[in-house]
Amino acid sequence: MIKHEMMQVVSQRPLTHNVYELTLQGELVRFMNEPGQFVHIRVNNDYLPLLRRPISIAEIDQTHEQFTMIYRAEGAGTSLLAEKQAGQSIDVLGPLGHGFPLDAIESDQTALLVGGGIGVPPLYELSKRLREKGVQVIHVLGFQSKADVFYEREFLALGETYIATVDGSYGTKGFVTTVIDEQQFSYDIMFSCGPTPMLKALENNYTNKPLYISLEERMGCGIGACFACVCKQREDSTAYKKICSDGPVFQAGEVLL
Ligand SMILES: Cc1cc2nc3c(=O)[nH]c(=O)nc-3n(C[C@H](O)[C@H](O)[C@H](O)COP(=O)(O)OP(=O)(O)OC[C@H]3O[C@@H](n4cnc5c(N)ncnc54)[C@H](O)[C@@H]3O)c2cc1C
Ligand code: FES
Repeated sequence: MIKHEMMQVVSQRPLTHNVYELTLQGELVRFMNEPGQFVHIRVNNDYLPLLRRPISIAEIDQTHEQFTMIYRAEGAGTSLLAEKQAGQSIDVLGPLGHGFPLDAIESDQTALLVGGGIGVPPLYELSKRLREKGVQVIHVLGFQSKADVFYEREFLALGETYIATVDGSYGTKGFVTTVIDEQQFSYDIMFSCGPTPMLKALENNYTNKPLYISLEERMGCGIGACFACVCKQREDSTAYKKICSDGPVFQAGEVLL
């Protein structure tokens, strides 16, 4: 069920120079049950910016009716979001979309979770839920440089964690694919979220195991009404899927990247 609520800011803190962790509280959290779902946020009470901003759910705490998101302050909307402080309220619509399918893996199997940059956040709740189910998790997280790395400790607490940086200032020099090729992991399923070139590389290079990808494309309404987020289906290029309501998580090959 989708709910609309003015949620209370519990905390906001910078994780890197432009990435923030924001925790909100409210009844809406009761309806969050799939890792990989997102919320749609109205960042300002004024007229502008007009459109809501979609942000993934990074962690759910049902006991305290709180959830956490991690976002990069880069444009007008997310920069306004970064100014919010504890005690203020934020207009939230959610939870939206379909997340990662937990039933696609058995409890004694191994999942490889691959995140790129600001695509890393939804993998955290996913990893926690997989661990609760008894699944082994391996994380491969890619960033531009050491200064951009966040949540390494949190992921390490859940399972093996490898970091790749493009400039080589931390972890393995290169992309997430460099780590996967070097380590030759044994796994049963891969889950991923990150920039489209990274998702394309995973889809093209690792075809022998199931792969689920989460797409972070431009959105309007977030609820399937405006067609702003459509993408072509691979098997029938005249048919479309809506990322907001059919996704954001798709099985590799379902949609054209
Ligand atoms: C399902 C989903 C989950 C996401 N999860 C996260 C997350 O966890 N953390 C995070 O930092 N970012 C996430 N994003 C991307 C985030 O929504 C954009 O970075 C953000 O909307 C940019 O807003 P802005 O005001 O900073 O940028 P501006 O450039 O000011 O935005 C201008 C316009 O473009 C739209 N827009 C620009 N980039 C995007 C984009 N990538 N996706 C959708 N709309 C866009 C905005 O909605 C706005 O209408 C997610 C996107 C989607 C679709
Ligand atoms: S954002 Fe409006 S249909 Fe998907």
